[in-house]
Amino acid sequence: MMCENIHSALQTLAAKYAEDQVCVVIDEKLADSGESIIRHPEWPILRLAASEQNKSLHTVQQIWDFLFAQGITRRGLLICIGGGVITDLGGFAAATYKRGIDYVNVPTTLLAMIDASTGGKTGINYGGLKNSIGCFAPPVGTLIWTGWLQTLPAKEMLSGFGEMLKTGLIVEGLWSELMRYDLDTMPLESLQTLIAKCVAAKEQIVAADPKEEGLRKVLNFGHTFGHALEEKSMEAQARSGAEPLDHGYAVVYGMIAELYLSVTKVGCPKEPLQQLSQLMLHYYGKPNCKCSDREALIALMQQDKKNERTAQINCTLIQHIGSPLINQVITPEEANEALEYLFSL
Ligand SMILES: NC(=O)c1ccc[n+]([C@@H]2O[C@H](COP(=O)([O-])OP(=O)(O)OC[C@H]3O[C@@H](n4cnc5c(N)ncnc54)[C@H](O)[C@@H]3O)[C@@H](O)[C@H]2O)c1
Repeated sequence: MMCENIHSALQTLAAKYAEDQVCVVIDEKLADSGESIIRHPEWPILRLAASEQNKSLHTVQQIWDFLFAQGITRRGLLICIGGGVITDLGGFAAATYKRGIDYVNVPTTLLAMIDASTGGKTGINYGGLKNSIGCFAPPVGTLIWTGWLQTLPAKEMLSGFGEMLKTGLIVEGLWSELMRYDLDTMPLESLQTLIAKCVAAKEQIVAADPKEEGLRKVLNFGHTFGHALEEKSMEAQARSGAEPLDHGYAVVYGMIAELYLSVTKVGCPKEPLQQLSQLMLHYYGKPNCKCSDREALIALMQQDKKNERTAQINCTLIQHIGSPLINQVITPEEANEALEYLFSL
């Protein structure tokens, strides 16, 4: 739900719970500004560092310990304030604490607003694989207040815009509006309209297939290659402290590979591939993530949790804008060719 006044929206939602049964987890970067926006001195607050490294079982344990220490019962509410790392972590901790308590998401990044905070997917990274442990557990509400975006760095705005571009490619009637959006100045007013459209599109897809048995897989467009790139960059970060690849950037690179396969395998027109490649070169830059090892990327894709059968790479492709095709099996040779295209740009 889009809201003008986040403070009163939160108070209204929390009023359904006993005063001593409400707790908050918040991105530590937002602790000062966020806590003054919440303005509720009674709610205990746990501050967490948002990073893919921290999206771990250890952090979930920290949240469980915090909930136990506050005496939260099964009638409690956890408020998760932050980007996708915090909402995924908080949602998973809430869904598993005492077999599940209510939680509400207050997304503070563009990416979390249009994607991570809706749809009920929660989870953590495990065994070097992205989101490989988790569950479906929808929040009792998602309160979207775009005021948070005033402090969000341009790089994070572009990361969120990557997921918006994905929505534009899988649903009808949004792509040209996204192509017209001015990424140099990023005006908030027109962005707000686009956010509402992307959220509505996702909610409609999720309502039709909450557990990703069919239709919902369209939302994975760009993510088979994107997740492999992200995992490879997490490996490099753990080894040498290299800069990690943002999720939305990985999705943009993944969409280029999957658009390439959409053109070569299912006859998609070349225009969206050309438009996205140009946009990538202008705003996102080439994938400079020490993750160009194609063999390793293909091995990661073969382990992807989205695959229906072990070692068989499964992708969503598009026939044209607004017409996605799920369950497209990709051979390692085809994956290699798509990566070659991506790295040649
Ligand atoms: N559950 C889902 O359906 C789903 C969908 C897409 C992505 N995800 C997950 O979301 C995560 C990525 O989300 P993200 O990009 O929001 O990452 P994030 O939570 O790491 O936030 C990105 C950065 O922005 C900072 N930040 C957050 N809000 C801010 C603000 N208002 N002002 C300034 N800085 C701010 C954070 O501290 C962090 O450094 C990934 O782990 C991805 O797997 C989940």
